[in-house]
Amino acid sequence: MTTSTSPILRLAPSILSADFARLGEEVRAIQAAGADLVHFDVMDNHYVPNLTIGPLVCEAIRPHVTIPIDVHLMVEPVDALIPLFAKAGASIITFHPEASKHVDRTLQLIKEHGCKAGLVLNPATSVEWLDHVMDRLDMILLMSVNPGFGGQKFIPSTLGKLRTVRQRIEAHQARGGQPIWLQVDGGVKIDNIQEIVAAGADTCVAGSAVFSAPDADGGYHTVMNALRRAAHPGQ
Ligand code: DX5
Ligand code: ZN
Repeated sequence: MTTSTSPILRLAPSILSADFARLGEEVRAIQAAGADLVHFDVMDNHYVPNLTIGPLVCEAIRPHVTIPIDVHLMVEPVDALIPLFAKAGASIITFHPEASKHVDRTLQLIKEHGCKAGLVLNPATSVEWLDHVMDRLDMILLMSVNPGFGGQKFIPSTLGKLRTVRQRIEAHQARGGQPIWLQVDGGVKIDNIQEIVAAGADTCVAGSAVFSAPDADGGYHTVMNALRRAAHPGQ
């Protein structure tokens, strides 16, 4: 079984759990605390039973940070939103393959608009969706909760799926393929991030774990440092 020993860990706080009335301040605070990406959850009350934020909010926060904005589209259909998010400053756009009629075309559309592209697999979605599009992927996102809400419990079967996908990425790169980030989203906490990273994740979304634990000054240094230390104890 392949496990990752790489010290690479990108932390992507999900602003779904941020204070929306102070979003500029919140994204500045996570960047100051060492966030690698801003994870931006887009829900449409159709693909998922919740409604969140769109390109206007992406555009509004873009000037507040320099780190990439990682747009996770939980929407159906997908394609019409891609140019809008690219224009709004998205750096990475991921979508759920079953929400697009033409997955390969949607991936191409994201690239044509200058963004990195990724597929998101729900807990019960098969890894076979990856089979014919590995060459087009910059990121694979494995959901470790069912999408729609922050603050849910990590689904343990994600660990085996992470190992499987890590092996696929390594095999792809051994054949000369491009690097692909492996992201996990949902229920990532200080007490489980070590096993998640050991199973092969190199990019972890954390929403409630980060935003529910502000420092006295409103920053997030303590929790972000604790997540990094917990991911690679002894380093
Ligand atoms: C769920 C979202 C997640 C969510 C994660 O549909 O995609 O990004 O905000 O939140 P936590 O870390 O609280 O599970
Ligand atoms: Zn997400």
